Amino acid sequence: MSPKYKLEGLQSGQMQQTVNLSGLPFGGSNPPPSTSSKKVCIISGATSGLGASLARCFLNKGYRVVGLGRRVVESSEFSQHANLWMLRCDVSQNEQVFEVVNKVVSAWGRIDLVIANAGISEASPSDQPFSSVYEAVLNTNVIGAVYLFDAVIPTLMKQKCGHLVSISSLAAYRGLPQAGAYSASKAALTALTESMRIDLKPYSIDVSVIHPGWIDTPLTRRNAYPMPFKLSLDEGVDRIVNAIEQKKDWVSFPWPLVLAVNLLKIFPAWLYDSLIGKRKNKKRSSL
Ligand SMILES: NC(=O)c1ccc[n+]([C@@H]2O[C@H](COP(=O)([O-])OP(=O)(O)OC[C@H]3O[C@@H](n4cnc5c(N)ncnc54)[C@H](OP(=O)(O)O)[C@@H]3O)[C@@H](O)[C@H]2O)c1
Repeated sequence: MSPKYKLEGLQSGQMQQTVNLSGLPFGGSNPPPSTSSKKVCIISGATSGLGASLARCFLNKGYRVVGLGRRVVESSEFSQHANLWMLRCDVSQNEQVFEVVNKVVSAWGRIDLVIANAGISEASPSDQPFSSVYEAVLNTNVIGAVYLFDAVIPTLMKQKCGHLVSISSLAAYRGLPQAGAYSASKAALTALTESMRIDLKPYSIDVSVIHPGWIDTPLTRRNAYPMPFKLSLDEGVDRIVNAIEQKKDWVSFPWPLVLAVNLLKIFPAWLYDSLIGKRKNKKRSSL
């Protein structure tokens, strides 16, 4: 009997479905040789929130989907799905990332779409010790994406096609109070993704960076402060999928927040500080 796996992020919500992982195990065994010409999509952080929903979406669109996450666990609760391959992987560990990408290339022979979505958000107030928070957030949100892109780019260059996508954030636009680690990580992710877009054009590799505002996921459910213009998970994922399908270079949403962050970006520091500094008692930022 084939192994069964529990995919935590696919248990809840409107799009609940049984996840079929037939013959697509994690942890050593190989998937059956595939003769399918379906496109292959790798999504990091596919055990929860946006990543799990994106996995469902691209499965429905006929892709073979590889979902990465640290919480991929065995379970007998779910039946199996031939086009979803969940692999346990901590993106901040280079060897693990290279190992899973090698597995995918050996098994399925191609990579068409890679979404660097894995991310964490922790408060990093500057008046408390913060080195370990910066390390954790930057290692996941920035270095994790770097490892993933570094591992897949040789295959995309050989193919002379493919699409890299970074899930950044509107928090990349300017440093948010108590969220230096998260803002810095998303600003770095945006910058490195833009550089890659220019560098990889000669190889016909598309590169997109997406900056969502607040979307209802487990990450934002921990926030104990108002999140204006927060989108539902389905709305947020629709926007992201549209941007990916249209191969947009740079996308930010929703527009009222985009307008606000663009204005804040051109404000002088004193004006920015006086407006943004009023946001008191903010426990965490996950924009
Ligand atoms: N929700 C929002 O409002 C919002 C807005 C802008 C941008 N974003 C960005 O969107 C992305 C997804 O966020 P979300 O809201 O869907 O949060 P989420 O529900 O907390 O999901 C985060 C995902 O990242 C994975 N992850 C975290 N650390 C990892 C690691 N070291 N290795 C592999 N996977 C790791 C988690 O999987 P495991 O725990 O299984 O490893 C989980 O699947 C993040 O990059 C976030 O910054 C979110």
